[in-house]
Amino acid sequence: MLEKIRQTTEFLLDKITNKPEIGIILGTGLGGLTTEIESEFEIAYEKIPDFPVSTVKGHSGKLIFGKLSGRNIVAMQGRFHYYEGYDMKEVTFPVRVMKLLGIEKIIISNASGAVNPDYNIGDLMIITDHINMFPENPLRGKNYEEFGPRFPDMSETYSKKLILKAEKIAADNNIDVRKGIYAGLSGPTFETPAEYNFFRIIGSDTVGMSTVPEAIVARHMKIPVFAVSVITDSGAPGKIVEISHEEVQAIARNAEPKLTKLIKELIK
Ligand code: HPA
Repeated sequence: MLEKIRQTTEFLLDKITNKPEIGIILGTGLGGLTTEIESEFEIAYEKIPDFPVSTVKGHSGKLIFGKLSGRNIVAMQGRFHYYEGYDMKEVTFPVRVMKLLGIEKIIISNASGAVNPDYNIGDLMIITDHINMFPENPLRGKNYEEFGPRFPDMSETYSKKLILKAEKIAADNNIDVRKGIYAGLSGPTFETPAEYNFFRIIGSDTVGMSTVPEAIVARHMKIPVFAVSVITDSGAPGKIVEISHEEVQAIARNAEPKLTKLIKELIK
């Protein structure tokens, strides 16, 4: 695994002139941010040695190197989900590579379902903490001390400093944001009403099928994480309606302008 991560990193370093300072993972329907990037080099996942290849419709997969808000960034357009069948090492492989490429911060976005009854469809939620409900932890197995400790601290998985900055940016730009806890779970089923209720009872505000593995692996390597969620549906009692992946994508796309603004300013 370590060898593969190094080889992939070397392969990419050979192709770029500016090392990225910030990594960005763009979630469901949020790929629009890519149009704002002054792209220097783009490469489809299938052309990168040892990179997994995305299989879900709407998750076109490529890595984009370039400038955003004057900073050197690397963005993942499309991510690898556990429900697609990838194992946790594959899901988090790009985060390891981004670390070796030189990133000092990571920004993650996703779509999620609300279980907090005060939340509305289309809201943005800054993730302040998570509950890992995946059947596995991405750090299970051999630990590579080069990356981080066997038992990593998770007391501040999401950087308080970046959260404060984002809140200030949101206030200055009249962007409404919530702050809350995201439960990450395997999917691919959306939740039953009883499950949504369970996730509310155990302390989450939203539920989704990503982000937690990537955030854990980033924190293993001491990378500060900022993550934000677009609420695409509600699992709160009385608010549950039938949903589809297409609706999730459409709603996430509608929220794009405010999310784009927030992330661009934060990167600045
Ligand atoms: N549940 C799980 N994942 C999701 C949801 C949801 O309701 N909405 C968007 N991603």
